[in-house]
Amino acid sequence: MPDRYDTTRQQLAGHPQQWLITGVAGFIGSNLLEALLKLDQTVVGLDNFSTGYQRNLDEVRSVVSPEQWQRFRFIEGDIRRAEDCVNAVNGVDHVLHEAALGSVPRSVVDPIATHEVNISGFLNMLVAARDAQVSSFTYAASSATYGDHPGLPKVEDQIGQPLSPYAVTKYANELYASVFARAYGFKTIGLRYFNAFGKRQDPDGAYAAVIPKWTAALIAGDDVVINGDGETSRDFCFIDNVVKANILAATADEAARNEVYNVAVGDRTTLIQLYDGLRSVLADNGVSCDKRPVFGPFRAGDVRHSQANVDKAERLLGYENTIPLVEGLSKAMPWYIEFVSQR
Ligand SMILES: NC(=O)c1ccc[n+]([C@@H]2O[C@H](COP(=O)([O-])OP(=O)(O)OC[C@H]3O[C@@H](n4cnc5c(N)ncnc54)[C@H](O)[C@@H]3O)[C@@H](O)[C@H]2O)c1
Repeated sequence: MPDRYDTTRQQLAGHPQQWLITGVAGFIGSNLLEALLKLDQTVVGLDNFSTGYQRNLDEVRSVVSPEQWQRFRFIEGDIRRAEDCVNAVNGVDHVLHEAALGSVPRSVVDPIATHEVNISGFLNMLVAARDAQVSSFTYAASSATYGDHPGLPKVEDQIGQPLSPYAVTKYANELYASVFARAYGFKTIGLRYFNAFGKRQDPDGAYAAVIPKWTAALIAGDDVVINGDGETSRDFCFIDNVVKANILAATADEAARNEVYNVAVGDRTTLIQLYDGLRSVLADNGVSCDKRPVFGPFRAGDVRHSQANVDKAERLLGYENTIPLVEGLSKAMPWYIEFVSQR
């Protein structure tokens, strides 16, 4: 039986809409772009290439038809500049706001930069989208907002104290979003992503996420460093689930708006289990790695355990039939093998 995601995609393909994706040159943004262009939607993308890449846009271009690519317009701009946000939202139906400085450790090193992009930039986008009277505004929130709350699995209305400047910024987004509903009647949806992974997630640099970083290291035969004792756990969420949540949120009923939702699978995997899972999926792809991991110190600001309850997204958005970790790793692996071989 078709689920809400199937029927929504059919409807969109029959009646294309105008979308804005901020952070379009990044990991999640470029995957959203690919999905929407493949549904024949019209897309405006905004990015300043601070952590995103032209190569991500080039890759999307290579996997859609020339007609689909013509429906994409790119604006190189910065969400810290209000006029860039106003320019980008002009004529748009749906905003998917992904632009931000990610990474907990980056925010610990440079809290001001994270604040300026993630809070001031977010506010610029909210004001611009409210004034343009867009029909939906969906933004990237984060599981970091659960902070030191010990409960597992995480439910949306039980959060603790933030553990990093990054977590403060993502929580501030939620507070601004809820005030915009109260003060201006502008209702948004926040998606608290839990450790997303998949093709085009950057494996390089000091602030790379664990899956791309380890995958690239294993393929290249480099050491993998596990921060802490390896028992730290996460609810790793394949990118197709994130794309699904965004499209469902943008097209959700009025009753589902002015809410935040966990976007994950509902499983919990320790870092040691992840390491073993990656080695096994790589072996299935003809890459063998016998090295044992190296253990390093715990990282400041990291949450110890994370696992989502996704009932709310299932109930109000129709977010179901998610792809689990190992299946997602299997789908993502050919891309990483190709990426590393071309370096
Ligand atoms: N990847 C995850 O696991 C995860 C988890 C929770 C939340 N998030 C959130 O999801 C969103 C997307 O994350 P991602 O993993 O794709 O990261 P990413 O770094 O790949 O993408 C972010 C994009 O935003 C752009 N950007 C940054 N500052 C900008 C600015 N001032 N103006 C315009 N563009 C700017 C970057 O150049 C980049 O292309 C972020 O808001 C992030 O905080 C991600």
